[in-house]
Amino acid sequence: MNTPRILADHDLQPLNTLAVPARAARYAQVGDEASLREALSFARAEGMPVLVLGGGSNVVLPARFEGLAIQVTIKGVEIVAEDGEFVYVRAGAGEVWQDLVEFTLQRNLQGLENLSLIPGTVGAAPIQNIGAYGVELDTVFESLTAIDRQSLETLAFDAPACEFSYRDSIFKHRLRDAVVITAVTFRLRKKGELNTSYAPLHEALSAIPANELTPRQVSDAVIAIRRSKLPDPAEIPNAGSFFKNPIVSADKHESLKRDYPQLVSFPAGAGRVKLAAGWLLEQAGWRGHRQDGVGMHAAQALVLVNPGRREGEYVLEYAARIQRDVYERFGVMLEREPVAYVPQGETA
Ligand code: EPU
Repeated sequence: MNTPRILADHDLQPLNTLAVPARAARYAQVGDEASLREALSFARAEGMPVLVLGGGSNVVLPARFEGLAIQVTIKGVEIVAEDGEFVYVRAGAGEVWQDLVEFTLQRNLQGLENLSLIPGTVGAAPIQNIGAYGVELDTVFESLTAIDRQSLETLAFDAPACEFSYRDSIFKHRLRDAVVITAVTFRLRKKGELNTSYAPLHEALSAIPANELTPRQVSDAVIAIRRSKLPDPAEIPNAGSFFKNPIVSADKHESLKRDYPQLVSFPAGAGRVKLAAGWLLEQAGWRGHRQDGVGMHAAQALVLVNPGRREGEYVLEYAARIQRDVYERFGVMLEREPVAYVPQGETA
């Protein structure tokens, strides 16, 4: 009953928002934990590497993956607990992120409104600790469950176990390719102050008194800002920000600020400073640049766009050129944000 259908030579181009041409030797869609275990056992028996896809909105795929691509479509959103202050909502890893946001907004729950309209699935969200407009996932994260790819056991993670930091978690490092997330539980506030610290958001909502502001109004404002800057992957293939905002020492920041008084930066704690990578890219002339079907978005230089639907290898080559150029100009190495599955030696 729970045996997933394993398909051969499957097209992954429609399954990644960068729309790179990609095919997998084997592919399975899994809608429940039993099917996921079956698929993982199959790969283990065949000695095949596994690639896990959610919404495909934060990956750079290789032209050919000689293994099993598993797409997690585990559904379900439910309220699992409640106390005086919080409501705890659990969602299946395969739920579309925005559907979960909508579920919470309909119940006037606070916490996900700033993260409205982020492409992708619930299961992928903790991997890069998604964030936008002053909020990161770890501020509302309660716990998650995952299946160990080798032992097939169910594991539970609380927030410290996930080792969250800026666009980062243990699932991008020590546990990369080691577990598959199956469900995530969020801790959402019934009331309290909404986060409008991001300047353009604050501005957009300034006419509404803080005590009357609803999560829905914050969400609507976030959606309007996102739409004005970020391209819709359905129209222009992209994976959101392609680089992280680099965090540098106070000394490095000071010396850059002397050379570039307009430098855009934010305090990052512990005496360190986060630089706006979009600003560095714009100064270096990459905003709106295009070459052979790939480029940097004209309204937001941090977003790599792939209107030519070029292959992942080329996308990474283009990104590496940008990384070298920014390093030569500013002495700052940009780190890629999406996870690349292109064979080793070819990644930047
Ligand atoms: N800027 C420029 N030119 C550009 C882009 C940005 O000068 O082309 C400068 C502007 O001065 C702006 C500053 O950079 O004030 C920051 O830009 P923005 O507010 O658009 O945000 P970001 O730092 O470029 C980050 C996230 C986005 C998130 C926005 C809003 C990262 C890597 N990216 O971008 O997340 O939506 O903040 O919170 O942290 C994603 O991760 O995929 C993503 C889209």
